[in-house]
Amino acid sequence: MSFTIAIDGPAAAGKGTLARALAAHYGYAYLDTGLLYRAVGARMLAGDEPAAAARSLDPADLDPTILRTQTVAEAASQVAVLPAVRVALVAFQQDFARAGQGAVLDGRDIGTVICPQAEVKLFVTASAEVRADRRMRELLDAGQPADPAVILAEVIARDRRDADRSTAPLVTASDATLIDTTDLTPAQALSRAIAVVEARRPA
Ligand code: CDP
Ligand code: CDP
Repeated sequence: MSFTIAIDGPAAAGKGTLARALAAHYGYAYLDTGLLYRAVGARMLAGDEPAAAARSLDPADLDPTILRTQTVAEAASQVAVLPAVRVALVAFQQDFARAGQGAVLDGRDIGTVICPQAEVKLFVTASAEVRADRRMRELLDAGQPADPAVILAEVIARDRRDADRSTAPLVTASDATLIDTTDLTPAQALSRAIAVVEARRPA
């Protein structure tokens, strides 16, 4: 039986950092589900119809280096409001969660829609200011100078779009454990998460 760890939360909360570390710690597979929406967003920017792009998505298109730009993130959150796009991506994510001994998936609706039976659900968050600051640093590191006020406005706009959409909005699952990383290092967030996982793992 596969053990599933579902991680949801807003942009730059530290979901991916935590998910990768947990997957490495337990030897589980990891899926960054944001990449699926980013890949569909990128196809929309290239002129494709979003739902058709979602239905014909090739895992080979999921190249994080190509899909990591702010423009693609923005397009991802636009296609993510479309029910036909979300429906087309469900099976891939559920199959991933079921395959193998264990899997960690991160996104917005993993604990609520994709894997409501997940053994562990974490909701990872941080203040909007700290999240915008993290994005800013990532852009600077990538040699893409950006205006802090613009990045903060984008983070807040994307949060609102993710939380307000009618299909699979970003909400905290009632049985999720909250991890606020505003004042936590990645290592501190990992040790909190491991404590939650250990409490749920079969002896
Ligand atoms: O890394 P970051 O949190 O900025 O973004 P991401 O996880 O790559 O997701 C990009 C966009 O895809 C988000 O703003 C969401 O609108 C959408 N998304 C979603 O709707 N559901 C998911 N499970 C994952 C991402
Ligand atoms: O996946 P998500 O968009 O939620 O966030 P991430 O890509 O894991 O983290 C965004 C940035 O915040 C990265 O540069 C991390 O190194 C940093 N981070 C941090 O400073 N403190 C944490 N506790 C977690 C992440």
